[in-house]
Amino acid sequence: MRIRRTPITDPSAWTRAEMEADPSWRLPLEPRHVADIDRALGAVKARGLPFHAITRADFPLPEWDDLFARIWQQLTRGRGVALLRGLPVERYSDEDAHLLYWGIGTHLGDGVTQNAAAELIAGVYDRGQPFGGDVRAYQVSAELALHCDNSDIVGLMCLRQAAQGGETMLVSPLAIYNRILAKAPEHLEALHAGFPYDRKGEEGPGEPPIGGTPIPLFHTASDGTVSARYARSYITRAEQRRGAPLTPEQSAALDCFDRLAHDPDLLLEFHLRPGDIEFASNYTVFHARRAYTDHADPARKRMMLRLWLQNDAVRRIESDALRFGFTRFGNHGKTARELAAA
Ligand SMILES: [Fe+2]
Repeated sequence: MRIRRTPITDPSAWTRAEMEADPSWRLPLEPRHVADIDRALGAVKARGLPFHAITRADFPLPEWDDLFARIWQQLTRGRGVALLRGLPVERYSDEDAHLLYWGIGTHLGDGVTQNAAAELIAGVYDRGQPFGGDVRAYQVSAELALHCDNSDIVGLMCLRQAAQGGETMLVSPLAIYNRILAKAPEHLEALHAGFPYDRKGEEGPGEPPIGGTPIPLFHTASDGTVSARYARSYITRAEQRRGAPLTPEQSAALDCFDRLAHDPDLLLEFHLRPGDIEFASNYTVFHARRAYTDHADPARKRMMLRLWLQNDAVRRIESDALRFGFTRFGNHGKTARELAAA
């Protein structure tokens, strides 16, 4: 098993202070970018296209060339995250928001399904259930632990904020890698070897409820590129379903990771505001969210739209388990075209 033994020194291994001082990942939209959106949106609405039928050719955004280059640079060689600010989201219906969000996404990758219902854009809002068992994180208002989503790239678009709380938290797992390398390198082997992931009841007919291959938290590619994948609630669910806990070495390695992930020097925290769109590489940025309280008026409830994008070029990954073990089962991980052909 290949394990990188030298610190990661590129911009993907960031600290909170570095992110706060760095404007390169925050990208304000200009009027010309919004005008482009309005033109493209008008065209797809005139044709009556549902959002998932929109291709990149259907949604040209020529004024966004520079912006997409900067987003891509951040996702692949920069901070791993880009935050677009300033879309006048109050001007659009929720339906229009789906159309334009998908349209923007087509320029960065192929949208893939996110759940048993094969949703290509999932609404992230509180369903009023407690978090646990097979309930998924995007359905609750509780505080979430740091994790990545089950795709190459995750997008989050804020339509409405909570009355209170709901801050986004981001951390670089590669910065955590450096800390583990320095302080507790004995855990790197267990973190590379991987963990069983439950499928929270969303497996397809004939598929096992727990994925077969252990999924590495860290993977070191042949050129030394480290990529990460982690969602502890799925590992915990697998322990419960199997009735067998992790080994002491595995638990200690994950506990060490979790402890370092919440180091205030590493954890970046901010509010996604209405009209903000975040795109992040799931291999180099983990995310979480503070608990929140909604407005009493149901029409003002916190609402984020989530997009999962597939793009082979986002990262050099030589582990199918890390890339696909947690992303393709049941109705997860299918493009709109694959879904239509199924
Ligand atoms: Fe998530």
